[in-house]
Amino acid sequence: MDKLVVEGGKRLTGEIAISGAKNACLPILAATLLTDEECIIHNVPRLKDVSTMVCILESLGRKVEYEKNTIKISAGKVKACTAAYELVSTMRASIAVLGPLIAKYGEAKVSFPGGCVIGARPIDLHLKGLRALGVDIHIEEGYILASAKKMKGAKIYLGGHFGSSVLATANTLMAAVMAEGETIIEDAACEPELIDLANFLLKMGAQISGMGTPTLKIKGVKKLRGIEYTVIVDRIETGTYMLAAIATGGSLFLKGAKLEHNLALNDKLLESGGIVKERSNGIEVCRSGKKIKPIDITTLTYPGFPTDLQAQMMSLVTICEGISVITEKIYTERFIHVSELNRMGANIVLEGSTAIVKGVKKLSGAPVMASDLRASAALVIAGLIASGKTEISRVYHLDRGYEKIEEKLSAVGASIYRVKE
Ligand code: UD1
Repeated sequence: MDKLVVEGGKRLTGEIAISGAKNACLPILAATLLTDEECIIHNVPRLKDVSTMVCILESLGRKVEYEKNTIKISAGKVKACTAAYELVSTMRASIAVLGPLIAKYGEAKVSFPGGCVIGARPIDLHLKGLRALGVDIHIEEGYILASAKKMKGAKIYLGGHFGSSVLATANTLMAAVMAEGETIIEDAACEPELIDLANFLLKMGAQISGMGTPTLKIKGVKKLRGIEYTVIVDRIETGTYMLAAIATGGSLFLKGAKLEHNLALNDKLLESGGIVKERSNGIEVCRSGKKIKPIDITTLTYPGFPTDLQAQMMSLVTICEGISVITEKIYTERFIHVSELNRMGANIVLEGSTAIVKGVKKLSGAPVMASDLRASAALVIAGLIASGKTEISRVYHLDRGYEKIEEKLSAVGASIYRVKE
């Protein structure tokens, strides 16, 4: 397993080009199952999660070419409607093929994704949305067996214990675009990635309104066409580099980044002494002075502060003078990074789903272990600000979601390299 070695204490300065959004790309790739025609998707990041989705499409019988940042899915029908455990268990977003398979082929067999290190992650809302459209669903031998002779539009309230769900909304939407009549999804997710999926479906010929609001209205159509599409930029990668710039006292221009997708983060950074400027083709980020003030955040669904930036924000506040309070409302157990940050000298105490971070003067490099994608990014930021050497093992987590992270950071002055093992 590869390791990343970070020698801390360097200010990041220069330009980083932001990649396409992983979380937009994955459901969009699943949505290509809704047509037999060719689809070409641009601005696709080169990531392990994307390769996993490509493998799933191939295992279903579609021919896929993944060259540089473009994916071409050739015209053709699927040969099987089964997404196997071996693939689904490595990436939860694989569940996004359920809605399109059932909509297009009337049947699907998709492995139950199970939990993961950030919590239980149920799929009740996915099943609720599909059942409301008339899909018959059983769980057998770890698989979701879904079938529908005919799906009918319905009014569906899709909110759960933790608010709206991004992929449950995606699955229900992708099924509803081909269901007979009108579907209304209430408490739909409003995340930009979901809007991107809806825009992709619109271009394919779907009839959808209300994107970006909690009420989605869909009129079913009989057929969707193949299209060429460019995915939006990744707001979580953007946020991660914004935090890295501020944490190291550096100054970065994030090319292609959109501030409108990171308003919650922007608000907190401005409050604490960051300077964020939107330019026509990106965002500039730096600190206003030497110090950053402590920051309190609560993660929420969009446009609230994203859970996918909680860990990285925690790394930043470990060195802010004073106390920061970070409350996790989406995945209440998503705190695996806390013990690793404490190994590096941070002072973080957990009280249920709240982390109380007492700022320390400095972090010191240590061997640490990556546990999930965003926690790994947090350890990279911690390594960048720590004195000495930080060795991050199990970096395959990072490769799931950050395109060329060590190349991008090295180019702006970080001392970071990969050790192959
Ligand atoms: C997506 C993102 C992930 C991000 C998460 C929350 C993708 C590929 N992944 O994941 O990076 O961390 O949104 O912003 O887009 N829930 C239920 N029942 C369900 C589904 C979800 O209770 O059927 C709960 C979850 O446990 C969680 C909350 O709803 O507490 C939000 O999860 P959800 O939006 O579904 O996350 P994903 O779409 O899986």
